[in-house]
Amino acid sequence: MRARTRLCQHASGDVLEIGIGSGEGLEHYASEVRLTGIDVDPQAVEAARLEAQRLGRSIVVVEGDAHVLPFPAETFDGVVCFRALCEVANEAIVIEEALRVLRRGGSLLLVDHVASSWWPVRIVQQAMDRMVAPSTGEFRARRPIQHIRRLGAEIVESQRSWAGLTEYVWARKPQTAPDLPDPGHSSTERMRLKSEPAEVEDWL
Ligand SMILES: C[S@@+](CC[C@H](N)C(=O)[O-])C[C@H]1O[C@@H](n2cnc3c(N)ncnc32)[C@H](O)[C@@H]1O
Repeated sequence: MRARTRLCQHASGDVLEIGIGSGEGLEHYASEVRLTGIDVDPQAVEAARLEAQRLGRSIVVVEGDAHVLPFPAETFDGVVCFRALCEVANEAIVIEEALRVLRRGGSLLLVDHVASSWWPVRIVQQAMDRMVAPSTGEFRARRPIQHIRRLGAEIVESQRSWAGLTEYVWARKPQTAPDLPDPGHSSTERMRLKSEPAEVEDWL
């Protein structure tokens, strides 16, 4: 099954797609899903709206930064992010935001480029992330699942592709709020942290 299909099949109810791009994923959601998309790029927002029109699908697409999601806490039943965490400035802050806007028991669904499980490949990826990614904005040596675990969300399912280059993660926000530490960052603080690299524990 294609990664995108797999991701979207677990999305139900009110769903937010972070970094929706040109809306390539729209046709993979069930018709009952009430979809909201967000993207920092105004051209992507326009393209996603046009794609929704073409498909005859009613969705809300907003222009905005995933580090400061413009939604109240516990707004969505599902948050989807397909190959966008590798492009944000600080993936840890974006994951905190995704969990904040999720309702308890809601699903966080990710597919992304990640650091390889083969150390020679990983060393090259890490060097590229240090030297090239700050200008291209495309990071390849990240490991979002570590941040998800740190924040106390339950991993329902995860799978890595060949050489571990891509990772699929289905996580759930705990039903009991105290299980999930409140990130406690104000929006100003999140914007400041955005410019700092995310801290990753030793996961190699
Ligand atoms: C590789 S594209 C993937 C698009 C879409 N998810 C797909 O699979 O077709 C990454 C998207 O993330 C968006 N993006 C990057 N940084 C973002 C941020 N801080 N907030 C919101 N969107 C962002 C980009 O504008 C781009 O549209």
